[in-house]
Amino acid sequence: MTPTERIVILDFGSQTTQLIARRIREIGVFSEILPCTVSPEEIRKRQPKGLVLSGGPASVHAPDAPREPDGIFEMGIPILGICYGLQLMAVHFGGHVDTSARKEYGRAEIHVTNEHPLFHNLDPSQMVWMSHRDRVDHIPSEFHIVASSSNSPIAAMAHQDRPFIGVQFHPEVAHTPHGHFMLENFAYRICQCTESWSPQSFIESSTLSIREQVGNHRVICGLSGGVDSSVTALLIHKAIGNQLVCVFVDNGCLRYGEAQEVTHTFRDHFHIDLRVVEAGDRFLDALVGVNEPEEKRRIIGRIFIEIFQEEAEKIGDIRFLAQGTLYPDVIESTSFKGPSSTIKTHHNVGGLPDTLKLSLIEPLRELFKDEVRKVGSLLGLPPVLVERHPFPGPGLCVRVLGEVNRDRVEIARQADRIFMEELQSSGWYSKVSQALAVLLPVQSVGVMGDERTYQNVIALRAVDSRDYMTADMSHLPLDFLANVATRITNEVHGVNRVVYDLTSKPPATVEWE
Ligand code: XMP
Repeated sequence: MTPTERIVILDFGSQTTQLIARRIREIGVFSEILPCTVSPEEIRKRQPKGLVLSGGPASVHAPDAPREPDGIFEMGIPILGICYGLQLMAVHFGGHVDTSARKEYGRAEIHVTNEHPLFHNLDPSQMVWMSHRDRVDHIPSEFHIVASSSNSPIAAMAHQDRPFIGVQFHPEVAHTPHGHFMLENFAYRICQCTESWSPQSFIESSTLSIREQVGNHRVICGLSGGVDSSVTALLIHKAIGNQLVCVFVDNGCLRYGEAQEVTHTFRDHFHIDLRVVEAGDRFLDALVGVNEPEEKRRIIGRIFIEIFQEEAEKIGDIRFLAQGTLYPDVIESTSFKGPSSTIKTHHNVGGLPDTLKLSLIEPLRELFKDEVRKVGSLLGLPPVLVERHPFPGPGLCVRVLGEVNRDRVEIARQADRIFMEELQSSGWYSKVSQALAVLLPVQSVGVMGDERTYQNVIALRAVDSRDYMTADMSHLPLDFLANVATRITNEVHGVNRVVYDLTSKPPATVEWE
């Protein structure tokens, strides 16, 4: 499925490894991240046109410092070392890294003193982003200095006659304004790549390989209306048409109008064989009296799998299960462990029911979220679905804190509807990463007309985030929030108070449960 031409990035634990991969793909070359512990055979098997050694938090002199896989400098492949990658390169070739140097963090100006294809067509003075403690203070004899800054005399160094270049700074971050030209030079001039990767080329190659993998069997896909499962369904539908059956489960905890929107889009617009299972009562009955957040998730997850199994049996003759797994999920999963791996709680109810004994199809497992959105747009997914904020699999049930019942879900649903309407009409929807309304398990005193009230509290939350692993609260204008609060208290029966959540993640999480 993936293009044969690729650049492999070895991850030594940098926070920006994913960014390197994205930048290289943006310039039209497929890139793949592998943990630095990967075997040399795994690298060779992929026949990369180039290797990038990422940065990392370790010091090369630390006893447990990660090392490059054996023999990579003998593979005849061009190598770019970034920060820690540069330091590894220096040590490998007999140079020296100083661990007592002054820490350098932030913008710096480098001067290119020796021509090198990495800086082709760029001014000799470049602003770059530095973020390091150690630095190379003794260059290996086979290398020469290519660029220097006042604090890093060896800001870039290159091998005299082999295609190895190391940079102390980070070309992948936006604070290195011409960094993408440097990566482009690495890919096209040093690795001799050709432009071969784009969302369109991905659609073409993956539909071919889906067809090949599936043959004339049938595929089942759980559709949630989120962008990942929607794009998965569209891509597979493009490949195999009505051999695909989608199942949409209404768990009674969906957002306002969601079931109708998904049904209309996929059934009426795309003519996909979509089975809608109205299971609100089954879920809500099982949730009666349940307060504990994890217990709610477990119940929803279990019933979802039961329903999915029942549907698969009804349809019969299904051989494959399609899942919208994305590249960050693959990188963060426990089977893919570099030193940077973060343990992510997988709380997705769309998970695979093992007992189904179906083979998996995960056509998006090599894509980042922004690439998935581009593929979705190219496949004709309406902008409202392409740009939709993430929504938890268990739905509004984890936004009704404490006891879940139909009335309380309806309050959360109406508050969410109003918040979304106002975000959309003000243009803020696309500026925040995610927004939500939470029904709190407390009542507070208020006054309406001349009457005392004792009613519910809604908390609004909006966050800015790149990957949802960390998030900052969004700076929504107070007038805007006041207007949302007025509408909610006026229009949603049973709510007399609205508050705004100011916490970042960590220490809070995006959802409240
Ligand atoms: P937290 O609350 O962990 O959320 O900071 C991070 C992101 O994950 C979403 N989320 C979920 N998604 N099933 C999902 O599919 C879940 O159970 C779930 N819980 C949280 C959350 O909305 C945010 O985007």
